[in-house]
Amino acid sequence: MPLKKNSNRLFEDVYDFIVNRINRGEWMAHEKLPSIRELAKELNVHRLTVFKAYQRLKEEKKVYVKDKSGYFIHPGSLEGFEHIESPIYTSRVQRSYLSEIHQIPVTYQFSQALIDPNLLPNHYFAEYVKKVFDLYPKVLGTYSTVQGDEELREALAHYFRKRHQLYVSANELIITSGAQQAINLISQALIKPRDTVLMERPTYSAAIDIFRHQGAAIIPVDVYPYGYDIEQVERNMKQYKPRLFYLNPTFHNPTGYTVPTEHRKKLVELAEHYQCLLVEDDPFHDIYFGHEPPSPLFRYDTGGYVIYIRSYSKYIAPGLRIALVASRQPLMKILLTIKSLSDNGTPLLNQKIFLHYFLSERMQQHLEKLRIALNIRKEIMEEAIASTGWEWSSPKGGLNLWVKLPDELSSQSLLSKCIERSISFVPGNICDPLNELDSWIRLSYSFVNERKLTKGIKELIEVYKTF
Ligand SMILES: Cc1ncc(COP(=O)(O)O)c(C=O)c1O
Repeated sequence: MPLKKNSNRLFEDVYDFIVNRINRGEWMAHEKLPSIRELAKELNVHRLTVFKAYQRLKEEKKVYVKDKSGYFIHPGSLEGFEHIESPIYTSRVQRSYLSEIHQIPVTYQFSQALIDPNLLPNHYFAEYVKKVFDLYPKVLGTYSTVQGDEELREALAHYFRKRHQLYVSANELIITSGAQQAINLISQALIKPRDTVLMERPTYSAAIDIFRHQGAAIIPVDVYPYGYDIEQVERNMKQYKPRLFYLNPTFHNPTGYTVPTEHRKKLVELAEHYQCLLVEDDPFHDIYFGHEPPSPLFRYDTGGYVIYIRSYSKYIAPGLRIALVASRQPLMKILLTIKSLSDNGTPLLNQKIFLHYFLSERMQQHLEKLRIALNIRKEIMEEAIASTGWEWSSPKGGLNLWVKLPDELSSQSLLSKCIERSISFVPGNICDPLNELDSWIRLSYSFVNERKLTKGIKELIEVYKTF
């Protein structure tokens, strides 16, 4: 494999070369790396260059040194990767911890931040399917444009201008298959191995896996009920020169916290000053229990530093997988290329069905009822755990409670026992880029009905008491 010269520092290219080989599974834990002399010869570089790359790998605990015998692969560098060796292929991918938990069938599902299908407007969609086929008889006979259906983008742009004072044109929107795809597209478009990404701590677990898979070095930014420590954000931007900051500032997953307007404005200023893009993920904007949340950061951005992801998947029709990315040119062009490589466009039928629901009055009526129903479930869950001594900050929107258990309790161990009793939740450590926060758990109150919620939490507390 030839050495790719990407950076203007040769030792970093050698470092990338080795990390790529580790990530592709060419070496196993505790396997010896080529000697400095051998690799220098293979890559046609000076021995000191290889030495510097090895030193960096050592500092980052990707390799370790055995006295006089050389450099060996640190088992920790393979953590989080899934390695599958078969006679016909070898595969090595970043594990998705969240999806592994979701795949376990359980009766009391507190792990999935999805809304109970009984609370969604399913029966109306049957009507819209018929309408869409009448209006566009060839809807299944063609692809959507890569950017997404123009009628839908126009409708969304109009809505954002009118309702949120977000001045965005249809040309600045891409329809994606869920916010998950949007995060992945952005990561593929902007991140190369060793780039630094700021992420909230805790954060949406799958986003950690996506950026890791792309080879990013993740620097955590703590989130608090009152927002961020802005000085910490600024220090990180100054010191690490991140490519982007991925954030979920409105009814944040998993904590439910909302970042206040003054922090939003300040972040946009910092982004501009330090040339760091802000990727604002906003899938819970309409799920508020009192006042509407503050305007998205995107509203305050005049220089093209915010990429805004808005998903309608959660609370309208998860099966349609409709979300959007708003971004200014020329980023749009790069994202479109990656989107076309991914799937050539989100299915047109899904977009048209969504469009007709979105344009009807039913959507706002549905949202009003949904907020009431979810608030009731949240209160039931809070009441059910009130006597435990656990701590949490009551969210004003979103789908989850972020709960602190006693320090000595491991959420992973609690989860293993709970799964035996058919209960699931998200253990805190998988939401933490540092893989700590093990005495925290995320409980979603949105998926199971009131009766099951009370019963499931009662059982969860029984399991907890056995520790
Ligand atoms: C913060 C955040 N972003 C993105 C997603 C993925 O959403 P979608 O269903 O639109 O792909 C989720 C789902 O839980 C989420 O919590």
